[in-house]
Amino acid sequence: MASVPSLASSVNQRVADALASALPEAGGADPLLRRSDRADFQANGILALAKKAKANPRELATTVVEGIPTGDLIKEIEVSGPGFLNITVADAAIISTLAARAADDRLGVPLNPAAGTTVIDYAQPNVAKEMHVGHLRSAVIGAAMVEILEFTGEKVVRRHHIGDWGTQFGMLIQYLLEHPHELDHKSGDGDEQASGEEAMSNLNRLYKASRALFDSDEEFKTRARARVVDLQAGEPETLALWQRFVDESKIYFYSVFNKLDMDIQDPDVVGESGYNDMLVETCKLLEESGVAVRSNGALCVFFEDVKGPDGNPTPLIVQKSDGGFGYAATDLSAIRDRVTNLGATELIYVVDARQSLHFKMVFETARRAGWLNDDVKAVQLAFGTVLGKDGKPFKTREGETVRLVDLLDEAIERASAVVREKAQDLTEAEIAERGAQVGIGAVKYADLSTSAARDYKFDLDQMVSLNGDTSVYLQYAYARIQSILRKAGAARPAAHPEVALAPTERALGLHLDGFGELIAEAAAEHAPHKLAAYLYQLASLYTSFYSECPVLKADTPEQVENRLFLCELTARTLSKGMSLLGIRTPEKL
Ligand code: ARG
Repeated sequence: MASVPSLASSVNQRVADALASALPEAGGADPLLRRSDRADFQANGILALAKKAKANPRELATTVVEGIPTGDLIKEIEVSGPGFLNITVADAAIISTLAARAADDRLGVPLNPAAGTTVIDYAQPNVAKEMHVGHLRSAVIGAAMVEILEFTGEKVVRRHHIGDWGTQFGMLIQYLLEHPHELDHKSGDGDEQASGEEAMSNLNRLYKASRALFDSDEEFKTRARARVVDLQAGEPETLALWQRFVDESKIYFYSVFNKLDMDIQDPDVVGESGYNDMLVETCKLLEESGVAVRSNGALCVFFEDVKGPDGNPTPLIVQKSDGGFGYAATDLSAIRDRVTNLGATELIYVVDARQSLHFKMVFETARRAGWLNDDVKAVQLAFGTVLGKDGKPFKTREGETVRLVDLLDEAIERASAVVREKAQDLTEAEIAERGAQVGIGAVKYADLSTSAARDYKFDLDQMVSLNGDTSVYLQYAYARIQSILRKAGAARPAAHPEVALAPTERALGLHLDGFGELIAEAAAEHAPHKLAAYLYQLASLYTSFYSECPVLKADTPEQVENRLFLCELTARTLSKGMSLLGIRTPEKL
């Protein structure tokens, strides 16, 4: 494990050093190095520094250039315009740096020296309810953030805050008590998907039947309400039945997560009920500290800037006037648990943007109570709505919520058709396996390639297209490289820094070298879409390289191997990046 300083950071350091000796009062100032079209890099920081020091920018830039040695790292450096620096690095420096990356399992990506503990709340479906596209977004974005953060050395604790508590359980439990065999499995064939589907259809049927009875039968309604009281009091038989709903739902959740090729561990599933024991104390602490006050019997927290349409303040209700606790009390208790017991330095909530006001109020309350502070931040990684092709929230033709499983099945089916059409030497079993990897990858990539906050259109035709910014395009790029490497019989081709590079090789090489910085940025900004964009650009640069530079038929054996080396490092970077996004890169497609 050896982290490799990027060319950008080495060049930046040289310029900063020269700048510090040319203008001592600017010591430590950032020369603001950026990738550039004119040369490899451009430093734009000198202009402002010169102005501040009342020096002539072009003169300062010239002195800086004179103080920078050229040769090993920097091939050429010149002043341009009013005081920018255009910098070209040496071909050999590019290849040697990449060789150091290739020698490292982590591709030279540094660990974050300031890593802490992040608790991330994601993939939180609701018990006895069907999963929909909103749950897909939380799961996909959350899982990518987990992987990206862990790759930077962050300790990550996953929390699946499933909706497993609330008054609706009174009705469900009472119904099950009166119809005890409604949750029995009939097939029992051990097929995970079949039992997941059966679990959900049992739950659906039970939900509808109990709802109908609740709405039509006053006596049942009374019994259902009494059952809520039993549940809250922890009456054993009631709790046991509640547990059956949770277990049944988990069979279903896991079957969907499995289809999503996503690893969700049981100990990380800590639903709303997991905080029940803390609710009373949470309220007590808030009331005693004066953060929350009683208003018409309810325990409320008020905010200057949160008002309803009538101009009156809208409080966060921590405890209702009937004594019941709601969503907010649970979230506040979860914060206490995550900070105190799990040692979080950061809390991330991957939740629909439509819950932003709730989290704003919850975080502010926790701050007032001292549970969050400068050392422990909480952020909502809020995501936008999934839209249908018509640009309206995604619904079936009948106006119902689209079942996530149906969507995933359709994606897999479409992807299998694409794989089959292109397949040359794949068996039926391989086509099925790749179809799933391509289909699920397509759905995940479509979700991850736009910034989370934005809405996006769920368009399967576009998602499984071979052209454009899709995972299939990236997967094909990867598979094509593997086929070249197989043909060459070179498992780990060696780098040859002495070989001169063509422009497309340099562009590809410089982009590969930026992987570490990109990861740090995506982690710090909670922006998996930046990783997706990086990978897409990587595949595009590879495509240009490949069309302009013959690999196996290059001029000399060293050039052949050097190009194979670039191919191999591209493949490894693609595969690593895709795996962080939760997307497979099959060796053959
Ligand atoms: N179960 C909720 C839903 O389906 C999301 C839970 C979000 N997490 C939280 N800590 N409130 O909308």
